[in-house]
Amino acid sequence: APLRQRNTFGVAARAPWLVSIDDPAALPQALQSAPLRDGLALVLGGGSNLLFAGDPDGAVLELSGRSVQVLRHEDEHAIVRADAGVQWHGFVLQSLALGYAGLENLALIPGTVGASPIQNIGAYGVEVRDFVQAVEAFEPASGQWHRFDNAACGFGYRDSRFKQSPDRYLISSVEFALPLRPALKLDYAGLGEELAAMGVDAPTPQNVADAVIAIRRRKLPDPAVLGNAGSFFKNPILPAAQAEALLARHPAMPVFRGADAGTRKLSAAWLIDACGWKGHRDGDAGVSPAHALVLVNHGGASGQQLLDLARRIAESVQARFQVAIEPEPRIVGARW
Ligand code: FAD
Ligand code: EPU
Repeated sequence: APLRQRNTFGVAARAPWLVSIDDPAALPQALQSAPLRDGLALVLGGGSNLLFAGDPDGAVLELSGRSVQVLRHEDEHAIVRADAGVQWHGFVLQSLALGYAGLENLALIPGTVGASPIQNIGAYGVEVRDFVQAVEAFEPASGQWHRFDNAACGFGYRDSRFKQSPDRYLISSVEFALPLRPALKLDYAGLGEELAAMGVDAPTPQNVADAVIAIRRRKLPDPAVLGNAGSFFKNPILPAAQAEALLARHPAMPVFRGADAGTRKLSAAWLIDACGWKGHRDGDAGVSPAHALVLVNHGGASGQQLLDLARRIAESVQARFQVAIEPEPRIVGARW
């Protein structure tokens, strides 16, 4: 099966099989029959956070269930369960239309509900971990179904137990606890200004989603127009002392709080920009002229060419700042 239309970089790749299963109850049986029995290479959602540097060496599985159910209201929350195959952005809009708050800052992130806990998607000061009640998944190696509560998911910045062990758990659905009364998070740089420019002074969650959508449309290339996978690198987290020493030499460098007091988060975009990569292009593999953290495919780049460019970018950041940056997307068919 061709995979070019199934990854937002738009790079060419092929899988020997592409199997789509919409009823999770059929999973255990399907995994014991050909072609999945002979080797599952990859679970594929929307293909917006992976780079095919080579072909998957076995069957590709898509969990395509698309139902959304409001299970109950509980204290201050609605408990909503969505199947893995539901489109994330559509789910955000649907939850807002139902009067449930929480997901507004995460509007317009591509991909599926099933992938949302994998790297704990985040944007504009919110992460999906803030609203995940439980993740339901099948583990082929043990033949067991699991229900992971929030604490068991091991969420961190762009991280979870699922991201640590790719394809170990096949996520079939995610349960969310969405606040019935909004508690808006407006502190991310630019969000308040965007709402003000829209003429909104008492924002609703839908207003916040609209502002986030407007900012994202300006800043990030649309994969339908220019192939990309969003941020290609994670923002590096360093011991505070190392960050302070760098800041002394580069006073314009943005430095953010880390998850705990002894760490700081740097902006990978700024580090890459400072090395002169923004807008760079080698054939069809390039760096977005709009955002230094976004690698782009101008049309015919191969995954290998994009990976080579990413390596050179990381090497230059290492040489200039002694900071290691790591890819955010999953790289299929090669090692970082
Ligand atoms: P895929 O790319 O298909 O898969 C990603 C990983 O998850 C793979 O390892 C895959 O095997 C695994 N996986 C997928 N589904 C399942 C499942 N059901 N069970 C088990 N494993 C599974 N991310 C952010 O966090 N914040 C952003 O602001 C953001 N902005 C973006 C903007 C653009 C323009 C683009 C292109 C990407 C952006 N991303 C962002 C990255 C991406 O959208 C998210 O990581 C998204 O959650 C990926 O979803 P997907 O369905 O496309 O996953
Ligand atoms: N900057 C530059 N040059 C650029 C772009 C940005 O120097 O070309 C600097 C600016 O100083 C800016 C700072 O980088 O203030 C941060 O930029 P931005 O607000 O765009 O955020 P980011 O750190 O680059 C992160 C996430 C995005 C998420 C945004 C908004 C990561 C790896 N990326 O980007 O997530 O949408 O914040 O919250 O954490 C993704 O994961 O794919 C993704 C797009």
